[in-house]
Amino acid sequence: MEKKNIDWSNLGFGYVQTDKRYVSNFKDGSWDEGTLTSDATVVINECAGVLQYAQTVFEGLKAYTTEDGHIVTFRPDLNAARLKASAERLEMPAFPEDRFIDAIVQTVAANEAYVPPYGSGATLYIRPYLFGTNPVIGVKPADEYQFRVFTTPVGPYFKGGVRPLTIRVSDFDRAAPHGTGHIKAGLNYAMSLHAIVSAHKEGYDENLYLDPATRTKVEETGGANFLFVSKDGKVVTPKSSSILPSITRRSLVYVAKEYLGLEVEEREVYLSELEDMAECGLCGTAAVISPVGKIVDHGKEICFPSGMSEMGPVTKKLYETLTGIQMGRIEAPEGWIKVIR
Ligand code: PLP
Ligand code: COI
Repeated sequence: MEKKNIDWSNLGFGYVQTDKRYVSNFKDGSWDEGTLTSDATVVINECAGVLQYAQTVFEGLKAYTTEDGHIVTFRPDLNAARLKASAERLEMPAFPEDRFIDAIVQTVAANEAYVPPYGSGATLYIRPYLFGTNPVIGVKPADEYQFRVFTTPVGPYFKGGVRPLTIRVSDFDRAAPHGTGHIKAGLNYAMSLHAIVSAHKEGYDENLYLDPATRTKVEETGGANFLFVSKDGKVVTPKSSSILPSITRRSLVYVAKEYLGLEVEEREVYLSELEDMAECGLCGTAAVISPVGKIVDHGKEICFPSGMSEMGPVTKKLYETLTGIQMGRIEAPEGWIKVIR
């Protein structure tokens, strides 16, 4: 299979149209058989549920080329389950979990020429999504839906690759208690756009959102969960019912305990505790683990001892172990790797 002529090492996190995408439609209470298509355009009614009331949920995962030349994905069963949970929260029909995995496999295999080579630093990002397609004008769920999967080759999520980030404590909230913060709905991202644009204008890479009820506890950023390392070497990660249950974070907790023998605390983390942390990282499919060097809370700077030039030592071990598992250099726990080719 001849790869596309792409400058893999200089890719950012953007959309590059690939050859094939998967489409399945839901009508009269059931999903059709689904198909791959070359048509990257979606045509829907002007009054479609997704356009009027943002009835859309999505997922994000990646395909990797392993050291021995296979193409694999990482824990797609967890993305299938999370898409189901997201769909149910927005009164949408879930796409069957086994068919979700089959759709991922078909789409990645059909775009094999776009899967970045091993060692290039790039990966193939996979975006499954589901949205209401038929006209809806009173506030109610649609009756018809489309499920799609497209892929795009990507490099690092944050500009400049793996370098410590500077983030700010946001005055905007991301997710209300008992709201939709725990699902992957487009609406959570629409409402974060103003906050991210204003953070960028002020020179920050991202926002740290606090819990809206008390504004004392760390939740997450717009697109990743937090991991901290305490000065006595424990991995500490915020627990909250209004953050997205990150598959990367859940995997790193396992890696920290089972591969690295570290102690892990999943608990409420107060903003006031951060000055006592040694390291901080953002974790997610897109972010992988992006180190944070500094958090600015309304002029007050919290500078992590790991500094602004390198990843902290524990963060680095976590990063190397996780990416080692994903790229086939380190043996994966049973069921984590789905081989496509
Ligand atoms: N938190 C938010 C808000 C996200 O958008 C994402 C990205 O998917 C994550 C966390 C990380 O989740 P995962 O590790 O499953 O990609
Ligand atoms: C992902 O990590 O897959 C996401 O969906 C996060 C998004 C900010 C790109």
